[in-house]
Amino acid sequence: MWFSTGVKLMIKFTEVSKSFGPLLAVNAFSCHIKAGEIFGLVGPDGAGKTTIMRLLVNLIDPDSGSIIIDALPPHRFPRGKLGYMPQKFSLYGDLTISENLNFFASLYSLDPSTIQQRSREILRLTGLSGFENRMADNLSGGMKQKLALSSALLTRPQVMILDEPTYGVDPPSRKEFWQILYRLNQEGITIVISTPYMDEAELCHRVALLNGGQMLQCDSPSALKQIFAGQVVEVRADISDPYFFDDCRLVLDSSYYYHRFHLWTKEHPQVFQLLEEYAFNKDITELELKYISPGMEDVFAFLAEPRLGPERFGNQQ
Ligand SMILES: Nc1ncnc2c1ncn2[C@@H]1O[C@H](COP(=O)(O)OP(=O)(O)O)[C@@H](O)[C@H]1O
Ligand SMILES: [Mg+2]
Repeated sequence: MWFSTGVKLMIKFTEVSKSFGPLLAVNAFSCHIKAGEIFGLVGPDGAGKTTIMRLLVNLIDPDSGSIIIDALPPHRFPRGKLGYMPQKFSLYGDLTISENLNFFASLYSLDPSTIQQRSREILRLTGLSGFENRMADNLSGGMKQKLALSSALLTRPQVMILDEPTYGVDPPSRKEFWQILYRLNQEGITIVISTPYMDEAELCHRVALLNGGQMLQCDSPSALKQIFAGQVVEVRADISDPYFFDDCRLVLDSSYYYHRFHLWTKEHPQVFQLLEEYAFNKDITELELKYISPGMEDVFAFLAEPRLGPERFGNQQ
């Protein structure tokens, strides 16, 4: 095993709040992260993800509440055991991959032979072996993110804090990046990752869903789907108006993907029949309807939008 394992590390946030002037960026955030987990901070821009990570790596202090990492407050937790990849990580574009790693390793006073050995191991793990002499400026977006990840691994951290590492990266590279994260996790590294992408939320062991500084819910993706109270109907039809179903009483919300709708409906014994009638009245006679399992996107909307929240369900059909 490459990294140290068996650590009973646990991160615990208790009622942590942080404001910037009048803006409450994080509101009484509480959760715990277990050793060995891939834990996601999931939510849109402004949810408070970066602020929570900066609190965790001791770049800023909370206004109130406490954070404990492996029984220590962040300022006492050994810096090298925490790998941090900030949202806007700066590499030196005119340095090669090796030179970038040497530079970051020198910040931690690692000796040259250790740097060389670790760099080799890390580059193999992150799939950058063979590109050691390529300038960072000449790397693709996905490779730049891998290099940033590699730099954060130099101190052999027990926990990796990754702030939106796949933002703006093309889907195949995102997939590859996640494969690397799973590999690191198998080596015993606890991973805390933030993402606005709901498909990435599905890849985490547990997630905290955040919106506007509030935590909506914290659980495994499968458990979160259990609390979803609605049902989702996929409709395929030759309809180009994204708002086509907006006046349908049965439909609480809809997403449109070119000739395909994702309708979040109230429960009703004749959902399909009523949707068909509604469409027929608007001169659409050919519809394909099926129930689909709710995804994290649906769960998030359900929890985040009060107008769509649990009170909209129940007996009002
Ligand atoms: N240093 C700062 N000064 C002022 N406002 C900030 C600062 N950092 C974050 N914010 C604000 O706090 C809120 C949460 O931001 P952030 O933690 O970056 O969210 P996320 O990473 O989920 O997009 C946002 O409204 C953001 O504008
Ligand atoms: Mg952010």
